[in-house]
Amino acid sequence: MSPIDAHATATLRRPVVSPMPLAAEAPRHDIYLPIHKGLRSLMAAILVEAGSMDWQVPAERDATLARLDELLALCRGHLEHENRFLHTAIEQRLPGAAAQTEADHLEHLAAIDRLRSGADEVRRASGDAAGAASLALYRDLAVFVAENFLHMQVEESRNNASLWAAYSDAEVIGIHDALVASIPPQEMSRLLQLIVPALAPAERAQMMLGMRAGMPAAAFEDVLAIARAALSGRDWSKLRAALAENRSAAAH
Ligand SMILES: [Fe+2]
Repeated sequence: MSPIDAHATATLRRPVVSPMPLAAEAPRHDIYLPIHKGLRSLMAAILVEAGSMDWQVPAERDATLARLDELLALCRGHLEHENRFLHTAIEQRLPGAAAQTEADHLEHLAAIDRLRSGADEVRRASGDAAGAASLALYRDLAVFVAENFLHMQVEESRNNASLWAAYSDAEVIGIHDALVASIPPQEMSRLLQLIVPALAPAERAQMMLGMRAGMPAAAFEDVLAIARAALSGRDWSKLRAALAENRSAAAH
């Protein structure tokens, strides 16, 4: 059994349904939701792309593998942000409460390294070996995505419950703001490209209103430009209407 298969078997034995309520049932600030929706969306897209990749055309193969590399870099950055800001906060007030997701992150780092090696193997292989290496990479990526989906469920239920039990919403927002401030501008722009179209219109409007209230007007214009480029015409109209409505409500 390969390390990834062994890991998948262990993961599937773990209870999938968390006993804690999901964020949608609670009116507390959900620090995980936007970035997780963005990452779920990219993981799903890259998995489908890896499955249909033409390994016989080097330019197509390399373009897909470059997008996989980017996904893995984003996943690595994301878990580092969670370790540094969210796990630290949880452990500070509830020692041991972040232990499971902390351990998951170590497994994810090892899986990211294995996937990078698998991608290198695809790049090096030719003929039938390239097909076999591509299929192996696709299956390993599927397991990684599946494990991440389960992991995010634990974070959005159990870790959110820990944060909400130990911190006020103002404090949770403070943790979020410190995390966001640590992200370099270029990475932040990329994350917004992922997050904005992945949210439901009401969630998107709420996030953008918060950003408008918390940043200089010129910086918010840059955020709006990213949103406009990332959204369909229909969703952009909904967002513009929500922002205008909030402004006119504030004026009255
Ligand atoms: Fe995580």
